[in-house]
Amino acid sequence: MTRQLLKAEIHCHIEGAAPPAVTEAQARKYGVDTAAFLRDGAYQWRDFSEFLIAYDAVAALFRTEEDYALLTEAYLAELASINTIYSEIIVSPDHGDRIGLGADAYLAGICDGIYSAKEKTGIEARIIVTGERHFGPDRVVSAAEYAARAKNPLVTGFNMAGEERMGLVADYARAFDIARDAGLGLTIHAGEVCGPFSVTDALDLVKPARIGHGVRAIEDEALVARLAELGTVLEVCPGSNIALGVFADFDSHPLKKLKDAGVRVCINSDDPPFFGTSLAREYEIASQTMGMSNTEINDMTRTALEAAFVDEGTKATLL
Ligand code: ADE
Ligand code: ZN
Repeated sequence: MTRQLLKAEIHCHIEGAAPPAVTEAQARKYGVDTAAFLRDGAYQWRDFSEFLIAYDAVAALFRTEEDYALLTEAYLAELASINTIYSEIIVSPDHGDRIGLGADAYLAGICDGIYSAKEKTGIEARIIVTGERHFGPDRVVSAAEYAARAKNPLVTGFNMAGEERMGLVADYARAFDIARDAGLGLTIHAGEVCGPFSVTDALDLVKPARIGHGVRAIEDEALVARLAELGTVLEVCPGSNIALGVFADFDSHPLKKLKDAGVRVCINSDDPPFFGTSLAREYEIASQTMGMSNTEINDMTRTALEAAFVDEGTKATLL
């Protein structure tokens, strides 16, 4: 029974974890019409571009420190209830800035949620600050500078999410240099919407310990071998990939092939209610639909923990 296995994830976007009912309540509170992106209790989008628009619209409905504290605590409490011991939450200070809350209050709310959840359930969590690629290279650099100077013990990594088709990794490399110099762990969305070249660029120009998705590396055998050789961890999000049409169905999803080829992979939920999923379901899919054994599933949880951007003392308590 996968339900009893310990779980961990290192790739979930905070606003992407907002249940539709919570977003509806936020919209009522702020008098916002959600028809363009949320109807009949479900988020509305037809492709990756529309998904990003819906995501940004949902983010704009969380406007206070408390909004973020409650959202974060609820997400972590749900994870804890299915035996999850660790999560890394992807947060974008730009979303706090854009709504007038400000990055500091945005981050403070998320930290409050993490501390409350830890106190009530024991779940451990850390924060990955992300730049949003579609906000442009300058904003991504600003996000990296913000993460670098935050000196917040919960902020342990830097990422870039958003529209992978915008610009080249080279345009954003400086942001990663800033984050690396500040001692943050590096991960980057690549090989999700774009093909293997995007993963190759990330490896060449960012040298990240981990890659968000990276699944389209499967189209290039030599690249798969390179990922295995480097030990780069792929934060794989199967339900997200199927919902966004990256692969036609779970049978053609490459999670197991990548693992069998020696690539370090783990299971993640990405933006669960946007994709009709949950971390519990992602584990269930790996087990029931993809036929992976409990040993393979436990391997992936261990990989997530080994790759976690967390201090060695805490990591030792998790492994
Ligand atoms: N932001 C939230 N979810 C994302 C995804 N799957 N890809 C890129 N950016 C995102
Ligand atoms: Zn993501």
